[in-house]
Amino acid sequence: MQLQIAPSILSADFSNLGKDIEMLNKYADIIHLDIMDGTFVPNISFGFPVVEAVSKIASIPMDAHLMVVHPERWVKRCAELGVKMMSFHQEAAKDDTAGILADIRANGMKAGLVINPDIPVENLFPYIGQADYFLIMSVFAGFGGQKFIPESLERIKALKAELKRRGNDAPIEVDGGVNAGNALSLKESGAGILVAGSSVFNAPDPGEAISMLRNPR
Ligand code: DX5
Ligand code: ZN
Repeated sequence: MQLQIAPSILSADFSNLGKDIEMLNKYADIIHLDIMDGTFVPNISFGFPVVEAVSKIASIPMDAHLMVVHPERWVKRCAELGVKMMSFHQEAAKDDTAGILADIRANGMKAGLVINPDIPVENLFPYIGQADYFLIMSVFAGFGGQKFIPESLERIKALKAELKRRGNDAPIEVDGGVNAGNALSLKESGAGILVAGSSVFNAPDPGEAISMLRNPR
């Protein structure tokens, strides 16, 4: 299956965001929105006014990656702003994971479950069937421009194998340090959606960078 590319606007030009969104409409499959609260992660990115501004220009689906405590508080708001995919960290949700996944679906969005690199990938297995996609962080959530953690490939393979075994086709999204140098191994390991921030927006030709990620060699 063809990879889907979800550029993260964390590395976009916020002083000219409209221009970058128009570019993504043309070249990308999904717009990845990294929402950070300064508590779940040691950084603050942007919040719903920015999501609303993006929603007015976006013609491709918006994917909100919530790096916040209490993700359950923001399900309705995301749905109202036209977010199509909403993911949250299992570390932030704990016992509430199944309930939040169900609530995201009940609000008409695709529900995604995320784990940081230090969380066993097996923690995702009980939610196969309850999540529409899984997001494996290949860096610790919080900042763009970090180095890809190579052990992530084994984690993707393990999740892919379990999904196959259970006949589930939920895509695996990968986020952090993704670039043209690791896209092929990510695809071969079973990734279906690649998030990329700096490797797209810092490229001389972001459209070309997106096409290269989609057809990696
Ligand atoms: C990290 C974010 C990522 C990040 C990706 O907390 O979830 O989406 O912006 O940026 P790069 O591709 O630069 O690692
Ligand atoms: Zn992200």
